[in-house]
Amino acid sequence: MIVAIDGPAGAGKSTVAAAIAKKQGWQLVDTGAMYRAVAYQALERGVELDDEEAVCQVADGLKFEFRFVDGVNVIYCNGEALRTEIRSAEVSRAASVISAHPRVRRVLVDQQRRVGAERSSVLEGRDIGTVVFPDADVKVFITASSQIRAQRRVEQMREQGQEADFEEVRSEIEARDERDRTRDVSPLKRADDAVEIDTSQMSADEVLARVEGLIDQVQ
Ligand code: DC
Repeated sequence: MIVAIDGPAGAGKSTVAAAIAKKQGWQLVDTGAMYRAVAYQALERGVELDDEEAVCQVADGLKFEFRFVDGVNVIYCNGEALRTEIRSAEVSRAASVISAHPRVRRVLVDQQRRVGAERSSVLEGRDIGTVVFPDADVKVFITASSQIRAQRRVEQMREQGQEADFEEVRSEIEARDERDRTRDVSPLKRADDAVEIDTSQMSADEVLARVEGLIDQVQ
């Protein structure tokens, strides 16, 4: 079973993807975390983010795995767990930049297909239903207004003890959406056969129930 969950940052993809994977005992492939891991390694090694060849070499040398640890999905990069270090604003920006390189995407899409084919999986990202697994059993495209997405992000940051300015967060989200939507390769867009769910006025449980209903139809 392959469930593809795409959509812009902060729309609620991760929450619903994690809930489904946990309930069903499936693997959760957080493809955004893979782009973040490449960006993080590139920054660590002082690689120029615009240098596609150099970033590609970084990506080529990384092997990814996902495992739930104490109920939290953790990405392992060459055997090493990456957690908060890939969630900073700097890495978010860098991930958005390096994810526009076609050859970097090709390397990561290959890994996503390999990891996803190992067992039943929920994959969350931007291009799962359009590029990575166009034949996924279930495809959803999750959206929410940028206002709501910024609010959720600010709450999350404050819960984690980080300072957050609403306008700053909103403009960062909008800038990232714009880059993700307008890039030449695999831009963020809904697959023709994906079910769109606008979560602006929905609770997490309502979103979960909706996606579970779609899974039940194909199981
Ligand atoms: O979902 P996220 O915020 O962790 O994603 C980080 C960045 O990676 C974001 O700018 C979009 C990009 N990304 C992508 O281009 N394709 C994916 N399948 C997943 C993420």
